[in-house]
Amino acid sequence: MTMTPFPVAQKKPQLLRLHHQDDEASRVELATGLLAEVSSIAPKFLYDALGSRLFAAITELPEYYPTRTEAAIFTTHKAAMAAAIGTGRTLVDLGAGNCEKAANLFDALMPARYVAVDISADYLSDALDFLQFRHPAMDLLGIGIDFSTTFTLPPQADIEDCVVFYPGSSIGNFTPVQAEVFLRQIRAAAKGGGLLIGVDLVKPVSVLEPAYDDALGVTAAFNRNMLTISNRLLDADFNVSDFRHIACFNSRESRIEMHLEALREVTVCWPDVNGASTGKSGRVFHAGERIHTENSYKYTLDHFATLLHVAGYTKIRYWTDPNDWFAVFWADH
Ligand code: AVI
Repeated sequence: MTMTPFPVAQKKPQLLRLHHQDDEASRVELATGLLAEVSSIAPKFLYDALGSRLFAAITELPEYYPTRTEAAIFTTHKAAMAAAIGTGRTLVDLGAGNCEKAANLFDALMPARYVAVDISADYLSDALDFLQFRHPAMDLLGIGIDFSTTFTLPPQADIEDCVVFYPGSSIGNFTPVQAEVFLRQIRAAAKGGGLLIGVDLVKPVSVLEPAYDDALGVTAAFNRNMLTISNRLLDADFNVSDFRHIACFNSRESRIEMHLEALREVTVCWPDVNGASTGKSGRVFHAGERIHTENSYKYTLDHFATLLHVAGYTKIRYWTDPNDWFAVFWADH
């Protein structure tokens, strides 16, 4: 008797697209920031397709220690992390991108379910297809959503008692007050779950500043690309070569600040936003005047542990590299 092979249902990743680009809101946000007394462009405008590629290149630079230091902490302490966290849980990856960092933990954490969250659902789609191929039995869900202002996920995410994974010290791009609010929201959403989070630590300025002002000028290009993005979204007429990249450590605030500094007096124009009139708006930047583009806060171990406590977590532990340059915290309950 010949046996007909039984057709095995192939699992497929589920994808929810909940982020829709609002061009008018972007125009208003850009114009409002540029016209403020201290001019600024919000850091989310760093990441168009080119900006995302430039950021990926930054993570490969010899001066940019956070990515490889965090990766080494995961490699060294994966087993201890799994012992603390447990296996077979749902892993919710915030800012998942190509899902690589989380996938590297699968062998230790053995999640039953993986929920990848990122502003770009398109980016998630390819990464999840590949992951499903490697992990055919795992339930995979991708959610394209902007979680940077308020952390709310749809009910399908079903993240009760899950492990939230937020690597890369992206928490450092919030102010400490915003970070506390965000951590509280994560804790409330993941009811009873825990948070595995990467945090960049205070260290000598001689290490910090080159990480944000590398010899090849990749971070400078990443920062100045914001002017090209502003030209595209706001129809502004910035000339990229009129501004130079600045990265400096503000020790009072414990943060690296990125700015774009006018090399000469520059007049920049764009059409009025709000559709109220057909006139032109704009601003004169005097030589040396700056546009503030990003903050990257650096924490002490104590300060970040306190932040987690204040956000409501009661069981906290962490792992660091031998230099104490970076920490991975596990915060539970
Ligand atoms: C995404 N984020 C954690 C990076 C950081 O280090 O603050 C963004 C970055 N900006 C310049 N270089 C990298």
